[in-house]
Amino acid sequence: MKLTILKDYDALSDAAADAIVDLVCANPEAVLCLAAGDTPKGAYALLASKAAARQADFRKATFIGLDEWLGVPPDNAGSCHYFLRHQLFAPLKIADEQIHLFDALATDMNAECRQMDDVIREKGGIDLMLVGVGMNGHIGFNEPGVRDDLYAHVVELDETTRRVGQKYFNRVTTLDKGITLGLRHVLESRTLILIASGPKKAEVIRAALKEPIGTDIPASVVRRHRNSVAMIDRDAAAHLDAGH
Ligand code: F6R
Repeated sequence: MKLTILKDYDALSDAAADAIVDLVCANPEAVLCLAAGDTPKGAYALLASKAAARQADFRKATFIGLDEWLGVPPDNAGSCHYFLRHQLFAPLKIADEQIHLFDALATDMNAECRQMDDVIREKGGIDLMLVGVGMNGHIGFNEPGVRDDLYAHVVELDETTRRVGQKYFNRVTTLDKGITLGLRHVLESRTLILIASGPKKAEVIRAALKEPIGTDIPASVVRRHRNSVAMIDRDAAAHLDAGH
């Protein structure tokens, strides 16, 4: 794992956007799995202009959804679906055929999971995963204690995720289950970038990067990955120094 500490959120967003554009310039047919959430917002806002400046062509890329809140429809502004459509796909003019997201309203969630696993396999695996980290150390909705040998699966969200997740919604919303790619997808991805910003992530970043690797802190698997970068800003890195 490489550790990159950026000055602030803007520098982090810039570096993360560059990493995505670099990858698509090198491989226009890349399979990308880019998280929703507050952390990557700044990077996504930079992508269209960076892509134009570098003539990165996203038309042959494939986009895979990382996770979704079960039962939350895609037109709900708090859904990952809605976030990705508005923050990522619309500005980059990504066609529907390029996008594979979980249907959180599907009647057979197990089939939904297997279908996503199949798409990823048929596309030859994920080239780049860009993930955030939850306040409890989750990646996607891989909550503390999750098995690391699972592909897509449905999870009971833990208390922290239910509470913190309310920040994405306009009104209080029941968030008890999620559907997510598994840590096996994370570990099998060709490149993994974990991003974190701000003082509120400092403690979970310390735990992920300094405590023993294990699924009690799912984000710690970033250190087991063969080609990973933890890209964090100074505030999120604040507890990495000795003494914390
Ligand atoms: C979102 C996702 C979550 C978030 C994490 C951090 O698709 O998979 O794991 O990345 O909860 O969220 P933010 O960036 O809002 O702090």
